[in-house]
Amino acid sequence: MMLNIIRKKREGKPLTTEEIHYFIDNYTRGSIPDYQAAALLMAICIRGMNKTEVLTLTRAMMYSGITLNLSAIKGTKLDKHSTGGVGDKTTLIVAPILAAAGIPVAKLSGRGLGHTGGTLDKLESISGLRVEMLVDEIIRQVKAIGLAIASQTADLVPADKKLYALRDATATVDSRALIAASIMSKKLAAGADVILLDVKCGNGAFMKTRKEAFSLARLLVEIGNSMERKTVAIVSSMEQPLGTAIGNSLEVAEAVKTLSGQGPADLTELCYYLAATGMVLCGHARTETAAMREVKKIIATGRALNKLKLMVQAQGGNVDQINNPKQLPLARVTEIITSPQDGYIVRIKAEPVGQAAMLLGAGRHKKDDPIDLSAGIVLHKKAGEKVKRGEKIASLFTNDIDTLEVAEKKLLSAYTFGKRKPAATPLILGKVQ
Ligand code: URA
Repeated sequence: MMLNIIRKKREGKPLTTEEIHYFIDNYTRGSIPDYQAAALLMAICIRGMNKTEVLTLTRAMMYSGITLNLSAIKGTKLDKHSTGGVGDKTTLIVAPILAAAGIPVAKLSGRGLGHTGGTLDKLESISGLRVEMLVDEIIRQVKAIGLAIASQTADLVPADKKLYALRDATATVDSRALIAASIMSKKLAAGADVILLDVKCGNGAFMKTRKEAFSLARLLVEIGNSMERKTVAIVSSMEQPLGTAIGNSLEVAEAVKTLSGQGPADLTELCYYLAATGMVLCGHARTETAAMREVKKIIATGRALNKLKLMVQAQGGNVDQINNPKQLPLARVTEIITSPQDGYIVRIKAEPVGQAAMLLGAGRHKKDDPIDLSAGIVLHKKAGEKVKRGEKIASLFTNDIDTLEVAEKKLLSAYTFGKRKPAATPLILGKVQ
């Protein structure tokens, strides 16, 4: 049967519901070998899948393990997901804002891989903080304080765990159908009523062009809505890193700053917009303008930051590090990078910045690689800013001095300098609902 399925997809023919279920059920159970699964993934990557196939694949993956029932939590529950980027710490900001607005947020997050970061690693840079939680614990915590961010449990969507590792090893990650099914199977299994998606677009994202990003956003929204979950996708730029901090503890510090109303302009703009969209989606505000007013009030009164502190405390983390982010771990060695010329920073490509942070120890090459939660990069200037030769543009932080030279080279390869100020590019590219 598997041979026929592979051949059929290789010839570009659509797979039936029965064939897709056969593949997912048997691969999850271990009765289809990796080499056959890899061949099918490659055929899907090249030939694509139609909407019906993607929906079927999503459902088959969603039901490959347990699904969460959040009905014990009152109100409209929200989950948020970003397709991944560099410096993307929006969950640490948006989730507390929404929880402070009274929207229960039960968020299952992942770890970073390659040049992109993951929320769990960021949270674990807070000493003592636990992300491995039982389902009952998550539900109890959301009932008590309105917010939990935890690791996806092993029995939730086991098909994705196996498939993602295989995709990562066979150059089959960047397929629209496979990405959509991977993301939505996990979001649907996690049980929230409302799904807020941030689809990243640009050189630091899976989706490099607007066309690809909007196409993925439409597919994700269609899948969510067809499963009776209110789903909205924001498409936002991942041309340059988001905010100024890249690396786990550095990003927590920047999230605290943003929750205090003093974050970088781009990160603040995106987080407020995501939070306002979430509020409208959950029926907490009638218009985006009203929601935005509410977001600003929640930040100004310190309620959002307080929510983060409550969550850190509930999950065993050291709240002193949130009260005073200077207490967060910071790598021992600092290297200052300066501008090689006068002029403007025309571009800072996100992907090489993420790779430079990874080289410093902040990211993983492979799924189980250890990482240094205190390493990373702080950008002192962003694209569009004027610089003088010799002026500080970035700082590198690491505990492994041997990585500095190659990381510095990688970081500088991200920059384009020019004589003229570049035209401003929008951060939020659109919304699909
Ligand atoms: N994020 C996921 O969860 N899955 C993918 O395939 C890509 C990004």
